[in-house]
Amino acid sequence: MTDQTPLTANSPIGTWLDHPVGGPAITALLGAGGGFDASSLTPVLGLPLQQLVVLSQGQLPQEAVDALVLQVNGGVVPDGSAEPTGWQERVTTGRFAGQTVIVTGAASGIGRATALRVAREGGRVIAVDISAERLADLAGLVPGAEIVTVAGDITQQADIDAITAAAGPSIHALANVAGINDDFSPAHETSDAVWDRVIAINLTGGFKLMRAVLPAMLAAGSGSVVNVASEAGLRGDASGNAYTVSKHGVIGLTRSAAFMYGLQGIRVNAVAPGGVATGIPFPPNVSEAGKARLSPFQAQIPTVATAEQLAASITFLLSDDAVNINGVVLPSDGGWSVQ
Ligand SMILES: NC(=O)c1ccc[n+]([C@@H]2O[C@H](COP(=O)([O-])OP(=O)(O)OC[C@H]3O[C@@H](n4cnc5c(N)ncnc54)[C@H](O)[C@@H]3O)[C@@H](O)[C@H]2O)c1
Repeated sequence: MTDQTPLTANSPIGTWLDHPVGGPAITALLGAGGGFDASSLTPVLGLPLQQLVVLSQGQLPQEAVDALVLQVNGGVVPDGSAEPTGWQERVTTGRFAGQTVIVTGAASGIGRATALRVAREGGRVIAVDISAERLADLAGLVPGAEIVTVAGDITQQADIDAITAAAGPSIHALANVAGINDDFSPAHETSDAVWDRVIAINLTGGFKLMRAVLPAMLAAGSGSVVNVASEAGLRGDASGNAYTVSKHGVIGLTRSAAFMYGLQGIRVNAVAPGGVATGIPFPPNVSEAGKARLSPFQAQIPTVATAEQLAASITFLLSDDAVNINGVVLPSDGGWSVQ
């Protein structure tokens, strides 16, 4: 124990590393637990330690974080350790009141955080994901909110139809968040299977759902769509061929629709996340050549954000707060895009 503020799972990783007891303890744990070293933590220094559980995708389990907190606090859970520190989501009460908002990818990561934020702000959420299992607990998470879950695959027209049927005749907003990673392959290595799947989910699925909601928005003379692109939609050094193409495509989809429907009261914008602490999986057989070429550039990522921080950007553009904004691509990346 020291006379400093006790370290908790909510303390930033940078604070842990600077701490005379916490620093050596976390360095030893991360070295043993997954080959992290202190330098690999640079982009995540501002994140709460807790976020490493998600970010490490199982390499650092919750029990290890809990044990570390006990270890550095003499075997006692410190008072107030459940209190969040650092940036906190600030709900704008009623911002989506009276609105039906479709959010895809709602079972995990950025989509889940977006769905929950819209629900906390009074919206009726149509929460869509291919994983029925991971959607299951969502409906009950915000007391008093209406969250309708739809298990479906956005690449399938029948499932798109089920989503709009669940939404009903009035659809005020759509957040196209569902997406998958590629295998970092450069073009000459990209298989048909990787290309087809990544383009189908990241680009075609979002297009099909946007196409499906537009008639309701046109009839109402208003609507808001936010498509989730990526830093890989802005540059060539953030991911592999298929993912980079898909996210550049998302930006084209956004700009075309923003132009086509702007005069009819419909706003279409994109958010380009940088690194985000989610469990987004990588496919097996990541390309060695692609990984080797990308690694030095990915190491320049200035910060990794939380899913809730991305939801703040997405819900801003989705909401009437962005009334005068149409056709923008908003990098939400801690400044990566200016490097
Ligand atoms: N995490 C990052 O660092 C990062 C960075 C840039 C962009 N993004 C983008 O943000 C979006 C969300 O990513 P995340 O990190 O929250 O990932 P995630 O894996 O945590 O969540 C994505 C969700 O999409 C769902 N999904 C996948 N295929 C689907 C389909 N065919 N139909 C319906 N749902 C489907 C998954 O089941 C999952 O729940 C993606 O579009 C991703 O490309 C993420």
